[in-house]
Amino acid sequence: MRHLPIPVRILQLTDCHLMADPRAELKGICTRALFERVLTAVRARHGTLDQLILTGDLTHDEQLATYKSLRELLTPWLPRLRLIPGNHDHRENMRQAFPERIQPLGERNVFLEDVGGWRLIGLDSHVPGELHGWIGDEQLAWLTEQLTTHMGPAVLFLHHPPILVGSEWLDRIGLQDAAELLNLVRRHANVRAVICGHVHQERTVAEPPALIFTSPSTGVQFRPEAISLEVEPAPPGFRVLELHSDGRVVSWVERVP
Ligand SMILES: [Fe+2]
Repeated sequence: MRHLPIPVRILQLTDCHLMADPRAELKGICTRALFERVLTAVRARHGTLDQLILTGDLTHDEQLATYKSLRELLTPWLPRLRLIPGNHDHRENMRQAFPERIQPLGERNVFLEDVGGWRLIGLDSHVPGELHGWIGDEQLAWLTEQLTTHMGPAVLFLHHPPILVGSEWLDRIGLQDAAELLNLVRRHANVRAVICGHVHQERTVAEPPALIFTSPSTGVQFRPEAISLEVEPAPPGFRVLELHSDGRVVSWVERVP
């Protein structure tokens, strides 16, 4: 019998919006309680995983105390944990709470991780004081270098998706240099997927040869196609990625009722 290699398993958690007060609510939802419920499901359903990746809006209040309590909650996964910031984050406080899990690139918090022949690259699209995202030429040059020095397939992670989602208010606060990122993705055939947060909803868009995925929040969900912010009464969730040795990406969203 022929044994196929086990695919690399990645879990993405995004838009946790935690606050220092564990009972604090956002849009009537206790984000801490739902995040803890999601972690319980992750532990029960995915005992073996290679990487746990948080793609921004880790906190809502950007306080150091909140990042420290997040670190405590994530203790079982620390050696396999990577994080990048969203618009609701504070780069310096993130670095203080997770010094060994973040790679500084100038002022930005990025990461680079090679697992089972796959290169995972975390980008920082945070703009201090703004809701929209921006990658910038320097970071794009760094990304190009990481893609050209690696022969195998790669997956990119960033908070702001480089696509429109058809929701006026969200598309206004999107990634301002999305065109530059998409051009870069088209020039590098080894980019198989781009994994994003920010929009608090699930979406898959083909951008050959890559797939672009957005994911539900671990807390509050946004109604798709809404003109202004509307909360969708859907359970929290997270994304699972299976990265196969032949370069295929299989991905799905799991909800936590
Ligand atoms: Fe968010």
